[in-house]
Amino acid sequence: MSPPRRPTMQTEITERLGIEFPLLAFSHSADVVVAVSRAGGMGVLGAAQLSVEELERKLAWLGEELGEVPFGVDLLLPGRYEKADEGGLAREELIAQVPDQHRAFVAGLMDEYGVPELEEGYEFGDIVDGRGVPVTGNHTYTAKDTQPLLDVCLASGITLFANALGVAPTDTIDAFHERGMLVAGLAGTARHGEKHRQAGTDIVIAQGYEAGGHTGEIGSMVLIPDVVDAVEGTPVLAAGGIASGRQMAAAMMLGAAGVWTGSVWLTSEEAETTDVVREKFVGAVAADTVRSRACTGRPARQLRSGWSEAWEEADIEPLGMPHQGILYAEPQVRIARGAAVDAGRSRELATYFVGQVVGRLDRVLPAAAIFDEIVTDCAELLDR
Ligand SMILES: Cc1cc2nc3c(=O)[nH]c(=O)nc-3n(C[C@H](O)[C@H](O)[C@H](O)COP(=O)(O)O)c2cc1C
Repeated sequence: MSPPRRPTMQTEITERLGIEFPLLAFSHSADVVVAVSRAGGMGVLGAAQLSVEELERKLAWLGEELGEVPFGVDLLLPGRYEKADEGGLAREELIAQVPDQHRAFVAGLMDEYGVPELEEGYEFGDIVDGRGVPVTGNHTYTAKDTQPLLDVCLASGITLFANALGVAPTDTIDAFHERGMLVAGLAGTARHGEKHRQAGTDIVIAQGYEAGGHTGEIGSMVLIPDVVDAVEGTPVLAAGGIASGRQMAAAMMLGAAGVWTGSVWLTSEEAETTDVVREKFVGAVAADTVRSRACTGRPARQLRSGWSEAWEEADIEPLGMPHQGILYAEPQVRIARGAAVDAGRSRELATYFVGQVVGRLDRVLPAAAIFDEIVTDCAELLDR
């Protein structure tokens, strides 16, 4: 008997990216990126919180693992930021701007939940539970911090550069094009998609309300066809709530040329999530997420936790971006480390970005197995 034939699925996305299946995986785990790219999709490394040295190291490792197999990198390039004309504020200036009142609120919360302090000399980026702390504390979303990361991407020869939170400046897009790389941008409205297209973005990612991470207010069922129509001629990847072949097939029926996924990889064996967070995800239902400014200062979907609830109930508002992210940088590491050893009530505060599809993430599987199941089911449904 001949072995079962793997389905193929050719769209404008597979052609442009040189991949087998139009399934892209956003992940902070380089292992997930490798697994998905090797399986025939494309892994895209979330690099916004990496230092320049970490990004260089990860790109070198990905290059060794993947050779000619395509992969991408994603950064957050905010469309607007303070003192943009002077290149943005320096990290120290931003840290100094965090109000004492907010620092005191967080200190009180850490005490209330018995979250252990970090030992003296602790360096951000240390390992928890054998994996990385989900989001390390060294990102500040300033132009000054982002430009060197962008330069590393430009020099890297990756296949795809993706950008969230705004439209990349035209000269940045041109610079990627000159080096033979493609540029994708996340859009939460049709208008936003149009702006990406006008700026020269090659692929627009229509990301709906239910998605994990920073997200807008329009659900995928409405957003995807709206963006497809608005950017006619530019291929669209659908994002938000896609974790199965059924959901992928539905997105393709709405006009997408492929899908962009995030949450589904968070319960893969290769994910960066800590054991505590992964357990919470496996046990969660769709209603357990919340779109909150508590972690970064902009609305981001995450698992509801003591942290998000404390900010909902607080007399003070979360700060904006990047100040709230700066405020959260140390607590998130303390919480992850406290949760790993079950100190005090640290586990109640442990959270991470995840979409409403978390309700369907009920098993821990290798990323390649998750990938195969999605594309096989999707191909079968589209055939029907
Ligand atoms: C843990 C996590 C972190 C994310 N961080 C980023 C990011 O740094 N940049 C970005 O473009 N998108 C980010 N996103 C959004 C994803 O790129 C993607 O659009 C989203 O996960 C798709 O929806 P889904 O979570 O329902 O699959 C993040 C998503 C998750 C779950």
